[in-house]
Amino acid sequence: VSEVSQSPSFAEVLAARRMCRDFLDRPIDPDVLDRVLRAAFRGPAAGNTDALDLLVLRGEHTAEYWEVTLPAAQREGFRWPGLLAAPVLVVPLVRADSYVERYAAPDKARTGLGTAQDAWGVPYWYIDGGAAVMALLLAAEADGLGALLFGQFDHEQAVASRFGVPSDRRALGTIALGHPAPGGRRPSASARRAPTDPASRIHVERW
Ligand SMILES: Cc1cc2nc3c(=O)[nH]c(=O)nc-3n(C[C@H](O)[C@H](O)[C@H](O)COP(=O)(O)O)c2cc1C
Repeated sequence: VSEVSQSPSFAEVLAARRMCRDFLDRPIDPDVLDRVLRAAFRGPAAGNTDALDLLVLRGEHTAEYWEVTLPAAQREGFRWPGLLAAPVLVVPLVRADSYVERYAAPDKARTGLGTAQDAWGVPYWYIDGGAAVMALLLAAEADGLGALLFGQFDHEQAVASRFGVPSDRRALGTIALGHPAPGGRRPSASARRAPTDPASRIHVERW
């Protein structure tokens, strides 16, 4: 009997996506991983600027990441021990200067954004980076994987130097990817906050 697997609809993927903080110690199929990583490059980008890179750590290389950011001596009492089982860690990186350079081009120069990063009231590199992350998270969900985007906080520099990231890149955080352990989508304290009713935030015609 052949098993016909049906892809979930976009609405199902969007509704099902929750952060996962507990993973099975099981690798991700390389084709699936490739598909999920490539999804990040399907996000919109201001000026179609090409400023995103992904640092991908697989298998035993993830242990190097954890050595840097959560040394063994600090692991006791860590709230999400199953996070360390994630078989893949992805660090999305953005290069702000790519936007400055792009907006100095003749078709964008009139914006005045092609002079320096601090000319940007709204840093599009973080907007586009967020869209890339969301595309990746949804692609992971669509393929039955769990994912968590978490902050690097004061480890950004140490992670960058450990893995050779050029100094003009900013890490948006780290995305753990893998097969969810049963109950792996147990919500964090943040996710348990009462959900906002979108209707109260959608301001039609006037705020
Ligand atoms: C920019 C960003 C940073 C986040 N950082 C962390 C983090 O450091 N640790 C963590 O456990 N969750 C982190 N989260 C996950 C949020 O807590 C989570 O998305 C939120 O509570 C809503 O839950 P849901 O994504 O499962 O729907 C982060 C999410 C975003 C978008």
